[in-house]
Amino acid sequence: MCSVVNFNINGYHYKLPVIYGTFCEKAINISKLRESTGFITFDPGFKNTGITKSSISFIDGEKGELLYRGYPIEQIINQCSFIETSYLILNGELPNTAQLKSFSEKIKKFNSIHKEINKILDNIPNSYHPMGILSFLTHILDAFINNSLREEDLYLHLLAKLPILAALTYRKKIGLPPTYADPHLDYTSNLLKMFFSIPNQSYELNPIISDALNKILILHADHEQNCSTTTVRLLGSAHAGLFASISAGMSALWGKLHGGANQAVIEMLEAILKSGGNIKKWIEKAKNKKDPFRLMGFGHRIYKNFDPRAKIAKKVAENVIQQLGISDPILELAKDVERKALQDSYFLEKKLYPNIDFYSGIIYQAIGIPKEMFTVMFALGRLPGWMAHWKEMKLNKDPIGRPRQIYIGYKKRNIKKK
Ligand code: SDX
Repeated sequence: MCSVVNFNINGYHYKLPVIYGTFCEKAINISKLRESTGFITFDPGFKNTGITKSSISFIDGEKGELLYRGYPIEQIINQCSFIETSYLILNGELPNTAQLKSFSEKIKKFNSIHKEINKILDNIPNSYHPMGILSFLTHILDAFINNSLREEDLYLHLLAKLPILAALTYRKKIGLPPTYADPHLDYTSNLLKMFFSIPNQSYELNPIISDALNKILILHADHEQNCSTTTVRLLGSAHAGLFASISAGMSALWGKLHGGANQAVIEMLEAILKSGGNIKKWIEKAKNKKDPFRLMGFGHRIYKNFDPRAKIAKKVAENVIQQLGISDPILELAKDVERKALQDSYFLEKKLYPNIDFYSGIIYQAIGIPKEMFTVMFALGRLPGWMAHWKEMKLNKDPIGRPRQIYIGYKKRNIKKK
Protein backbone atom coordinates (compact mmCIF):
# COMPACT_ATOMS: atom_id res chain seq x y z
CA MET A 1 0.00 0.00 0.00
CA CYS A 2 1.56 3.30 -1.09
CA SER A 3 1.78 6.05 1.52
CA VAL A 4 2.26 8.89 -0.97
CA VAL A 5 1.35 9.67 -4.57
CA ASN A 6 3.94 11.34 -6.77
CA PHE A 7 3.07 13.58 -9.69
CA ASN A 8 4.63 16.23 -11.89
CA ILE A 9 3.13 19.56 -12.95
CA ASN A 10 5.00 21.71 -15.47
CA GLY A 11 8.22 19.87 -14.66
CA TYR A 12 7.88 20.23 -10.91
CA HIS A 13 7.65 17.06 -8.82
CA TYR A 14 5.11 16.84 -6.02
CA LYS A 15 4.05 14.20 -3.55
CA LEU A 16 0.85 14.03 -1.50
CA PRO A 17 0.08 11.66 1.38
CA VAL A 18 -2.40 8.78 0.97
CA ILE A 19 -4.86 7.86 3.74
CA TYR A 20 -6.57 4.48 4.09
CA GLY A 21 -9.89 3.46 5.61
CA THR A 22 -10.84 0.33 7.57
CA PHE A 23 -11.58 -1.60 4.36
CA CYS A 24 -8.56 -0.10 2.59
CA GLU A 25 -10.52 2.53 0.72
CA LYS A 26 -7.80 4.92 -0.27
CA ALA A 27 -7.75 8.72 -0.55
CA ILE A 28 -5.18 11.23 -1.70
CA ASN A 29 -5.02 13.85 1.03
CA ILE A 30 -5.22 17.08 -0.99
CA SER A 31 -5.56 19.42 2.01
CA LYS A 32 -2.20 21.00 1.06
CA LEU A 33 -2.70 20.76 -2.74
CA ARG A 34 -3.34 24.47 -3.50
CA GLU A 35 -0.67 25.62 -1.05
CA SER A 36 1.92 23.40 -2.73
CA THR A 37 0.86 23.44 -6.39
CA GLY A 38 -1.51 26.39 -6.86
CA PHE A 39 -4.09 23.94 -8.21
CA ILE A 40 -7.47 23.01 -6.74
CA THR A 41 -9.48 19.93 -7.74
CA PHE A 42 -12.77 20.04 -9.65
CA ASP A 43 -15.44 17.48 -8.70
CA PRO A 44 -19.10 18.59 -9.15
CA GLY A 45 -21.38 16.55 -6.88
CA PHE A 46 -18.34 15.39 -4.88
CA LYS A 47 -18.43 12.10 -6.82
CA ASN A 48 -14.73 11.49 -6.07
CA THR A 49 -14.33 13.55 -2.92
CA GLY A 50 -14.20 12.43 0.71
CA ILE A 51 -15.19 15.32 3.01
CA THR A 52 -14.38 13.71 6.37
CA LYS A 53 -13.34 10.55 8.22
CA SER A 54 -16.34 8.77 9.73
CA SER A 55 -16.94 5.58 11.73
CA ILE A 56 -20.74 5.54 11.70
CA SER A 57 -21.72 3.57 8.58
CA PHE A 58 -19.90 2.01 5.65
CA ILE A 59 -21.19 1.18 2.18
CA ASP A 60 -19.43 -1.21 -0.19
CA GLY A 61 -21.12 -0.06 -3.40
CA GLU A 62 -19.57 -2.74 -5.58
CA LYS A 63 -20.61 -5.60 -3.28
CA GLY A 64 -23.89 -3.99 -2.21
CA GLU A 65 -23.09 -4.09 1.51
CA LEU A 66 -24.06 -1.68 4.32
CA LEU A 67 -22.67 -1.71 7.88
CA TYR A 68 -23.87 0.36 10.83
CA ARG A 69 -20.91 0.71 13.25
CA GLY A 70 -19.51 -2.50 11.69
CA TYR A 71 -22.68 -4.61 11.93
CA PRO A 72 -24.21 -5.79 8.60
CA ILE A 73 -27.69 -4.35 8.00
CA GLU A 74 -28.97 -7.91 7.47
CA GLN A 75 -28.12 -8.77 11.12
CA ILE A 76 -29.40 -5.51 12.59
CA ILE A 77 -32.77 -5.79 10.82
CA ASN A 78 -33.38 -9.25 12.34
CA GLN A 79 -31.91 -8.75 15.82
CA CYS A 80 -32.45 -5.10 16.79
CA SER A 81 -35.26 -2.60 17.28
CA PHE A 82 -35.11 0.89 15.78
CA ILE A 83 -34.36 2.32 19.24
CA GLU A 84 -31.47 -0.12 19.75
CA THR A 85 -30.22 0.85 16.28
CA SER A 86 -30.52 4.54 17.14
CA TYR A 87 -28.48 3.95 20.32
CA LEU A 88 -25.85 2.04 18.28
CA ILE A 89 -25.58 4.74 15.62
CA LEU A 90 -25.41 7.57 18.16
CA ASN A 91 -23.05 5.89 20.67
CA GLY A 92 -21.03 3.39 18.61
CA GLU A 93 -22.03 0.23 20.50
CA LEU A 94 -25.24 -1.75 20.94
CA PRO A 95 -26.85 -1.00 24.33
CA ASN A 96 -26.96 -3.59 27.11
CA THR A 97 -30.30 -4.18 28.81
CA ALA A 98 -29.81 -1.42 31.41
CA GLN A 99 -28.57 1.10 28.80
CA LEU A 100 -31.51 0.34 26.49
CA LYS A 101 -33.99 0.70 29.37
CA SER A 102 -32.54 4.06 30.42
CA PHE A 103 -32.37 5.30 26.79
CA SER A 104 -36.01 4.32 26.13
CA GLU A 105 -37.20 5.82 29.42
CA LYS A 106 -35.46 9.13 28.76
CA ILE A 107 -37.05 9.31 25.31
CA LYS A 108 -40.45 8.76 26.94
CA LYS A 109 -39.66 11.48 29.47
CA PHE A 110 -39.29 13.96 26.59
CA ASN A 111 -42.24 12.80 24.49
CA SER A 112 -44.41 15.91 24.72
CA ILE A 113 -44.32 19.28 22.98
CA HIS A 114 -45.14 22.85 24.00
CA LYS A 115 -48.81 23.78 23.36
CA GLU A 116 -47.65 26.81 21.32
CA ILE A 117 -46.49 24.39 18.60
CA ASN A 118 -50.07 23.33 17.97
CA LYS A 119 -51.03 27.01 17.57
CA ILE A 120 -48.12 27.54 15.12
CA LEU A 121 -49.23 24.45 13.19
CA ASP A 122 -52.77 25.83 12.94
CA ASN A 123 -51.37 28.84 11.06
CA ILE A 124 -49.49 26.83 8.43
CA PRO A 125 -51.46 26.44 5.16
CA ASN A 126 -52.84 22.90 4.91
CA SER A 127 -51.65 22.81 1.30
CA TYR A 128 -48.00 22.97 2.41
CA HIS A 129 -46.09 19.68 1.85
CA PRO A 130 -45.57 17.69 5.09
CA MET A 131 -41.78 17.80 4.61
CA GLY A 132 -41.90 21.60 4.62
CA ILE A 133 -44.06 21.54 7.75
CA LEU A 134 -41.79 19.03 9.52
CA SER A 135 -38.65 20.98 8.64
CA PHE A 136 -40.26 24.21 9.89
CA LEU A 137 -41.54 22.68 13.15
CA THR A 138 -38.15 21.04 13.80
CA HIS A 139 -36.48 24.41 13.37
CA ILE A 140 -38.90 26.20 15.70
CA LEU A 141 -38.56 23.41 18.33
CA ASP A 142 -35.35 25.21 19.19
CA ALA A 143 -37.42 28.01 20.73
CA PHE A 144 -39.05 25.62 23.17
CA ILE A 145 -36.13 23.51 24.31
CA ASN A 146 -33.57 24.82 26.75
CA ASN A 147 -30.37 24.64 24.71
CA SER A 148 -28.23 24.61 27.81
CA LEU A 149 -29.27 20.99 28.23
CA ARG A 150 -26.58 18.32 27.89
CA GLU A 151 -26.07 17.58 24.18
CA GLU A 152 -27.06 13.93 24.73
CA ASP A 153 -30.45 15.14 26.02
CA LEU A 154 -30.98 17.27 22.90
CA TYR A 155 -30.64 14.09 20.81
CA LEU A 156 -33.19 12.34 23.01
CA HIS A 157 -35.57 15.30 22.77
CA LEU A 158 -35.47 15.04 18.98
CA LEU A 159 -35.94 11.26 18.97
CA ALA A 160 -38.94 11.75 21.25
CA LYS A 161 -40.46 14.79 19.56
CA LEU A 162 -40.03 14.11 15.84
CA PRO A 163 -42.68 11.34 15.79
CA ILE A 164 -45.07 13.73 17.57
CA LEU A 165 -44.42 16.47 14.99
CA ALA A 166 -44.86 13.95 12.17
CA ALA A 167 -48.15 12.70 13.62
CA LEU A 168 -49.40 16.27 14.16
CA THR A 169 -48.50 17.08 10.53
CA TYR A 170 -50.38 14.02 9.27
CA ARG A 171 -53.43 14.62 11.48
CA LYS A 172 -53.60 18.28 10.42
CA LYS A 173 -53.68 17.14 6.77
CA ILE A 174 -56.65 14.84 7.35
CA GLY A 175 -58.46 17.07 9.84
CA LEU A 176 -57.89 15.02 13.00
CA PRO A 177 -57.20 16.76 16.32
CA PRO A 178 -53.71 16.62 17.87
CA THR A 179 -52.90 13.51 19.87
CA TYR A 180 -50.42 12.64 22.61
CA ALA A 181 -47.72 10.00 23.02
CA ASP A 182 -48.59 6.81 24.89
CA PRO A 183 -45.69 6.05 27.28
CA HIS A 184 -46.87 2.45 27.70
CA LEU A 185 -46.07 1.59 24.08
CA ASP A 186 -42.78 0.89 22.29
CA TYR A 187 -41.44 3.51 19.87
CA THR A 188 -43.07 2.31 16.64
CA SER A 189 -46.40 1.28 18.22
CA ASN A 190 -46.62 4.71 19.87
CA LEU A 191 -45.81 6.36 16.53
CA LEU A 192 -48.57 4.41 14.75
CA LYS A 193 -51.08 5.15 17.51
CA MET A 194 -50.26 8.88 17.36
CA PHE A 195 -50.85 8.77 13.62
CA PHE A 196 -53.99 6.69 13.39
CA SER A 197 -55.93 6.80 16.69
CA ILE A 198 -59.42 8.24 16.36
CA PRO A 199 -60.85 10.29 19.26
CA ASN A 200 -63.31 8.35 21.45
CA GLN A 201 -62.40 5.07 19.73
CA SER A 202 -60.03 2.42 21.10
CA TYR A 203 -56.90 1.94 18.98
CA GLU A 204 -56.00 -1.65 18.13
CA LEU A 205 -52.26 -2.27 17.79
CA ASN A 206 -51.21 -4.52 14.90
CA PRO A 207 -47.82 -6.18 15.58
CA ILE A 208 -47.38 -6.92 11.86
CA ILE A 209 -47.58 -3.23 11.03
CA SER A 210 -45.47 -2.21 14.01
CA ASP A 211 -42.76 -4.70 13.00
CA ALA A 212 -42.80 -3.52 9.37
CA LEU A 213 -42.44 0.10 10.47
CA ASN A 214 -39.65 -0.84 12.86
CA LYS A 215 -37.77 -2.49 9.98
CA ILE A 216 -38.28 0.32 7.49
CA LEU A 217 -37.05 2.91 10.03
CA ILE A 218 -33.93 0.79 10.65
CA LEU A 219 -33.24 0.59 6.91
CA HIS A 220 -33.11 4.39 6.75
CA ALA A 221 -31.10 5.04 9.92
CA ASP A 222 -27.80 6.07 8.31
CA HIS A 223 -26.06 6.02 4.95
CA GLU A 224 -22.64 7.70 4.96
CA GLN A 225 -22.37 11.16 3.36
CA ASN A 226 -25.67 11.25 1.44
CA CYS A 227 -26.91 14.69 0.40
CA SER A 228 -28.99 15.37 3.53
CA THR A 229 -26.38 14.07 5.98
CA THR A 230 -23.67 16.17 4.36
CA THR A 231 -26.06 19.14 4.63
CA VAL A 232 -26.40 18.51 8.38
CA ARG A 233 -22.61 18.26 8.76
CA LEU A 234 -22.07 21.42 6.72
CA LEU A 235 -24.41 23.47 8.92
CA GLY A 236 -22.85 21.95 12.03
CA SER A 237 -19.39 22.92 10.76
CA ALA A 238 -20.54 26.58 10.86
CA HIS A 239 -21.62 25.93 14.48
CA ALA A 240 -25.31 26.26 13.54
CA GLY A 241 -27.52 24.67 16.19
CA LEU A 242 -28.62 21.02 16.16
CA PHE A 243 -32.28 21.79 15.37
CA ALA A 244 -31.42 24.19 12.53
CA SER A 245 -28.98 21.62 11.11
CA ILE A 246 -31.51 18.76 11.27
CA SER A 247 -34.18 21.04 9.78
CA ALA A 248 -31.83 21.80 6.85
CA GLY A 249 -31.15 18.08 6.41
CA MET A 250 -34.90 17.54 6.07
CA SER A 251 -35.09 20.20 3.37
CA ALA A 252 -32.32 18.45 1.44
CA LEU A 253 -34.03 15.06 1.89
CA TRP A 254 -37.24 16.53 0.42
CA GLY A 255 -35.59 16.68 -3.03
CA LYS A 256 -37.02 14.20 -5.57
CA LEU A 257 -33.57 12.85 -6.41
CA HIS A 258 -32.99 12.06 -2.74
CA GLY A 259 -35.59 11.17 -0.11
CA GLY A 260 -38.47 12.51 -2.18
CA ALA A 261 -37.94 9.56 -4.56
CA ASN A 262 -40.08 7.20 -2.46
CA GLN A 263 -43.16 9.32 -3.18
CA ALA A 264 -42.10 9.72 -6.83
CA VAL A 265 -41.76 5.90 -7.19
CA ILE A 266 -45.36 5.26 -6.19
CA GLU A 267 -46.58 8.14 -8.39
CA MET A 268 -44.58 6.64 -11.27
CA LEU A 269 -45.98 3.12 -10.69
CA GLU A 270 -49.52 4.50 -10.45
CA ALA A 271 -48.95 6.38 -13.74
CA ILE A 272 -47.71 3.16 -15.40
CA LEU A 273 -50.77 1.30 -14.12
CA LYS A 274 -53.12 4.11 -15.20
CA SER A 275 -51.58 4.23 -18.69
CA GLY A 276 -52.29 0.50 -19.24
CA GLY A 277 -49.22 -1.07 -17.60
CA ASN A 278 -46.98 -0.90 -20.66
CA ILE A 279 -43.68 -1.18 -18.70
CA LYS A 280 -41.52 -1.37 -21.84
CA LYS A 281 -42.75 2.08 -22.93
CA TRP A 282 -41.76 3.63 -19.59
CA ILE A 283 -38.38 1.90 -19.58
CA GLU A 284 -37.70 3.29 -23.05
CA LYS A 285 -38.74 6.73 -21.75
CA ALA A 286 -36.24 6.44 -18.91
CA LYS A 287 -33.49 5.52 -21.38
CA ASN A 288 -34.27 8.42 -23.72
CA LYS A 289 -31.74 11.20 -23.12
CA LYS A 290 -34.15 13.75 -24.55
CA ASP A 291 -36.77 12.80 -21.98
CA PRO A 292 -36.22 14.15 -18.43
CA PHE A 293 -38.09 11.12 -17.04
CA ARG A 294 -36.00 8.76 -14.92
CA LEU A 295 -36.97 5.37 -13.54
CA MET A 296 -37.51 6.56 -9.98
CA GLY A 297 -36.14 4.25 -7.31
CA PHE A 298 -33.41 3.05 -9.66
CA GLY A 299 -29.73 4.00 -9.59
CA HIS A 300 -27.50 5.18 -6.81
CA ARG A 301 -24.37 7.28 -6.46
CA ILE A 302 -22.58 4.58 -4.46
CA TYR A 303 -24.34 1.27 -5.10
CA LYS A 304 -23.31 -0.23 -8.43
CA ASN A 305 -25.02 -3.43 -7.33
CA PHE A 306 -28.29 -4.13 -5.51
CA ASP A 307 -28.90 -1.72 -2.60
CA PRO A 308 -29.05 -4.26 0.29
CA ARG A 309 -31.82 -2.17 1.83
CA ALA A 310 -33.93 -2.57 -1.32
CA LYS A 311 -33.58 -6.36 -1.11
CA ILE A 312 -34.73 -6.32 2.53
CA ALA A 313 -37.51 -3.76 1.82
CA LYS A 314 -38.82 -5.98 -1.01
CA LYS A 315 -39.11 -8.94 1.42
CA VAL A 316 -40.72 -6.74 4.12
CA ALA A 317 -43.22 -5.46 1.52
CA GLU A 318 -44.10 -9.00 0.41
CA ASN A 319 -44.48 -10.19 4.04
CA VAL A 320 -46.56 -7.30 5.29
CA ILE A 321 -48.90 -7.48 2.28
CA GLN A 322 -49.25 -11.26 2.62
CA GLN A 323 -49.71 -11.12 6.44
CA LEU A 324 -52.28 -8.33 6.20
CA GLY A 325 -54.06 -10.33 3.51
CA ILE A 326 -54.17 -7.37 1.13
CA SER A 327 -53.51 -7.55 -2.57
CA ASP A 328 -51.49 -4.67 -3.93
CA PRO A 329 -51.21 -4.41 -7.74
CA ILE A 330 -48.48 -1.79 -7.21
CA LEU A 331 -46.18 -4.37 -5.57
CA GLU A 332 -46.69 -6.84 -8.42
CA LEU A 333 -46.06 -4.05 -10.93
CA ALA A 334 -42.91 -2.96 -9.04
CA LYS A 335 -41.52 -6.51 -9.20
CA ASP A 336 -42.32 -6.61 -12.92
CA VAL A 337 -40.61 -3.26 -13.53
CA GLU A 338 -37.55 -4.46 -11.61
CA ARG A 339 -37.45 -7.68 -13.64
CA LYS A 340 -37.79 -5.96 -17.00
CA ALA A 341 -35.35 -3.13 -16.21
CA LEU A 342 -32.71 -5.62 -15.07
CA GLN A 343 -33.07 -7.49 -18.37
CA ASP A 344 -32.25 -4.27 -20.24
CA SER A 345 -28.61 -3.59 -21.13
CA TYR A 346 -29.03 0.17 -20.42
CA PHE A 347 -29.61 -0.47 -16.72
CA LEU A 348 -27.09 -3.31 -16.51
CA GLU A 349 -24.30 -1.39 -18.27
CA LYS A 350 -24.91 1.75 -16.16
CA LYS A 351 -25.24 -0.48 -13.06
CA LEU A 352 -28.63 0.97 -12.19
CA TYR A 353 -30.31 -1.27 -9.61
CA PRO A 354 -33.32 -0.70 -7.35
CA ASN A 355 -32.49 1.49 -4.35
CA ILE A 356 -34.25 1.74 -0.99
CA ASP A 357 -36.88 4.09 -2.39
CA PHE A 358 -38.14 1.56 -4.95
CA TYR A 359 -39.91 -0.62 -2.38
CA SER A 360 -40.16 1.55 0.74
CA GLY A 361 -43.26 3.38 -0.49
CA ILE A 362 -45.06 0.06 -0.98
CA ILE A 363 -44.50 -0.75 2.70
CA TYR A 364 -45.63 2.68 3.86
CA GLN A 365 -48.76 2.38 1.71
CA ALA A 366 -49.50 -1.11 3.05
CA ILE A 367 -49.35 0.16 6.67
CA GLY A 368 -51.66 3.07 5.88
CA ILE A 369 -49.18 5.94 5.45
CA PRO A 370 -50.26 8.24 2.57
CA LYS A 371 -47.79 9.13 -0.24
CA GLU A 372 -47.29 12.72 0.89
CA MET A 373 -45.94 11.40 4.23
CA PHE A 374 -43.40 8.92 2.78
CA THR A 375 -40.44 11.30 2.95
CA VAL A 376 -41.46 12.31 6.48
CA MET A 377 -41.09 8.62 7.42
CA PHE A 378 -37.68 8.60 5.74
CA ALA A 379 -36.70 11.59 7.92
CA LEU A 380 -37.88 9.80 11.09
CA GLY A 381 -35.64 6.87 10.15
CA ARG A 382 -32.64 9.02 9.21
CA LEU A 383 -32.74 11.13 12.37
CA PRO A 384 -30.25 9.03 14.39
CA GLY A 385 -27.79 9.13 11.48
CA TRP A 386 -28.09 12.89 11.04
CA MET A 387 -27.52 13.45 14.77
CA ALA A 388 -24.60 11.01 14.92
CA HIS A 389 -22.87 12.79 12.03
CA TRP A 390 -23.49 16.21 13.61
CA LYS A 391 -21.97 14.86 16.85
CA GLU A 392 -19.02 13.25 15.01
CA MET A 393 -18.32 16.42 13.01
CA LYS A 394 -17.86 18.28 16.30
CA LEU A 395 -15.74 15.48 17.81
CA ASN A 396 -13.59 15.48 14.63
CA LYS A 397 -13.27 19.26 14.99
CA ASP A 398 -13.99 19.44 11.23
CA PRO A 399 -13.22 22.94 9.87
CA ILE A 400 -16.11 25.02 8.51
CA GLY A 401 -17.11 23.61 5.13
CA ARG A 402 -16.26 26.14 2.44
CA PRO A 403 -15.47 24.64 -1.00
CA ARG A 404 -13.69 26.62 -3.71
CA GLN A 405 -14.87 27.13 -7.29
CA ILE A 406 -13.58 27.79 -10.79
CA TYR A 407 -14.75 31.31 -11.72
CA ILE A 408 -15.86 31.68 -15.34
CA GLY A 409 -17.58 35.06 -15.13
CA TYR A 410 -16.59 38.55 -16.42
CA LYS A 411 -13.07 39.86 -16.17
CA LYS A 412 -12.69 42.94 -13.89
CA ARG A 413 -14.55 45.86 -15.48
CA ASN A 414 -15.64 49.41 -14.51
CA ILE A 415 -19.19 50.65 -14.13
CA LYS A 416 -20.06 53.02 -17.01
CA LYS A 417 -23.44 54.48 -16.21
CA LYS A 418 -25.38 55.32 -19.38
C1 SDX B 1 -31.54 8.10 -2.03
O1 SDX B 1 -26.76 9.05 -1.36
C2 SDX B 1 -27.51 8.22 -0.71
O2 SDX B 1 -27.04 7.39 0.04
C3 SDX B 1 -28.98 8.45 -0.88
C4 SDX B 1 -29.91 7.44 -0.21
C5 SDX B 1 -29.84 7.55 1.28
O3 SDX B 1 -30.14 6.55 1.96
O4 SDX B 1 -29.57 8.66 1.79
O5 SDX B 1 -29.58 6.14 -0.63
C6 SDX B 1 -31.37 7.71 -0.60
O6 SDX B 1 -31.53 9.25 -2.32
C7 SDX B 1 -31.64 7.00 -3.06
C8 SDX B 1 -31.77 7.56 -4.49
C9 SDX B 1 -33.23 7.96 -4.74
N1 SDX B 1 -33.34 8.68 -6.04
C10 SDX B 1 -33.90 8.09 -7.08
O7 SDX B 1 -34.28 6.91 -7.11
C11 SDX B 1 -34.06 9.01 -8.29
C12 SDX B 1 -33.67 8.26 -9.56
N2 SDX B 1 -32.20 8.00 -9.53
C13 SDX B 1 -31.37 8.95 -10.18
O8 SDX B 1 -31.80 10.26 -10.25
C14 SDX B 1 -29.88 8.74 -9.90
O9 SDX B 1 -29.61 7.41 -10.08
C15 SDX B 1 -29.31 9.20 -8.57
C16 SDX B 1 -29.63 10.62 -8.29
C17 SDX B 1 -29.82 8.35 -7.47
C18 SDX B 1 -27.79 9.04 -8.65
O10 SDX B 1 -27.34 9.92 -9.58
P1 SDX B 1 -25.77 10.02 -9.97
O11 SDX B 1 -24.95 9.14 -9.12
O12 SDX B 1 -25.43 11.46 -10.04
O13 SDX B 1 -25.74 9.36 -11.37
P2 SDX B 1 -25.99 10.14 -12.73
O14 SDX B 1 -27.20 11.01 -12.58
O15 SDX B 1 -24.71 10.73 -13.17
O16 SDX B 1 -26.41 8.91 -13.70
C19 SDX B 1 -25.40 8.13 -14.34
C20 SDX B 1 -26.05 7.68 -15.65
C21 SDX B 1 -26.63 8.85 -16.47
O17 SDX B 1 -26.62 8.46 -17.81
P3 SDX B 1 -25.38 9.03 -18.74
O18 SDX B 1 -25.47 10.55 -18.68
O19 SDX B 1 -24.12 8.48 -18.12
O20 SDX B 1 -25.69 8.47 -20.11
O21 SDX B 1 -27.16 6.82 -15.36
C22 SDX B 1 -28.36 7.44 -15.83
C23 SDX B 1 -28.07 8.89 -16.03
O22 SDX B 1 -28.91 9.44 -17.01
N3 SDX B 1 -29.35 7.24 -14.77
C24 SDX B 1 -30.61 6.91 -14.97
C25 SDX B 1 -31.17 6.78 -13.70
N4 SDX B 1 -30.24 7.03 -12.78
C26 SDX B 1 -29.11 7.33 -13.43
N5 SDX B 1 -31.32 6.71 -16.12
C27 SDX B 1 -32.62 6.39 -15.95
N6 SDX B 1 -33.24 6.23 -14.75
C28 SDX B 1 -32.54 6.41 -13.62
N7 SDX B 1 -33.12 6.27 -12.44
